[in-house]
Amino acid sequence: MKHFSAEEKAGLYRAIYERRDVRSHFLPDPVPEDVLARILDAAHHAPSVGFMQPWDFIVIRDAAIREAVRENFERANQRAALIYEGEKRERYDALKLAGITDAPLNLCVTCDRQRARGGGLGRQSDPSTDLYSTVCAVQNLWLAARAESLGAGWVSILDMDALKQTLEIPSDITPVAYLCIGYVSEFGAQPDLEKRGWEQRESLTNLVHFDRWNRRDGR
Ligand SMILES: Cc1cc2nc3c(=O)[nH]c(=O)nc-3n(C[C@H](O)[C@H](O)[C@H](O)COP(=O)(O)O)c2cc1C
Repeated sequence: MKHFSAEEKAGLYRAIYERRDVRSHFLPDPVPEDVLARILDAAHHAPSVGFMQPWDFIVIRDAAIREAVRENFERANQRAALIYEGEKRERYDALKLAGITDAPLNLCVTCDRQRARGGGLGRQSDPSTDLYSTVCAVQNLWLAARAESLGAGWVSILDMDALKQTLEIPSDITPVAYLCIGYVSEFGAQPDLEKRGWEQRESLTNLVHFDRWNRRDGR
């Protein structure tokens, strides 16, 4: 077994801690083909239930398509804003929650829930594991993007049926993630939502249980 060197370990943890959800500070520079190929291949090496590999990747550069998705986002975001009132609503409206047309590259990661690969291994007890596998692919890509100095932002505030129409995604394929990707002028030191006072990172000790729910003493 070949261990990671101290430097390699540090690189992995750096990617984890310095990954950000990026919606602003995108630069217009195109993402080179070899870099795109590397981050897609990182995604494709994610774990998947039964080795199902249920994902597909739609690489979107077309400005007209990105504009259609931006309009979709604007409509969905107006609807989403309605649940907030007063000061919370003002704070919500001030958030920038997508960089669809600012980023030179968008990527839709989908899940084919009928894919035969893997023979259904591992999915009988929990059929959602194909979706979880697809999210693992997204996270691999997100971390690889950070290592490549590419920002990536996940946009979930979308009408998924309209998105499927725009991208001509077949009815039995599920869009899991819509990502805005590009080089950035900076990566924030903290999550954007934390910086803007929307939410803070929970203390890890509040979330760790030992042996049974709510048993906090691990010693
Ligand atoms: C499933 C998922 C959906 C998300 N959807 C959005 C979104 O629609 N708009 C947005 O601005 N951020 C979105 N985010 C990013 C989160 O807001 C972000 O991950 C969180 O605030 C922590 O910040 P960080 O990723 O920079 O650590 C999403 C993240 C995940 C995992």
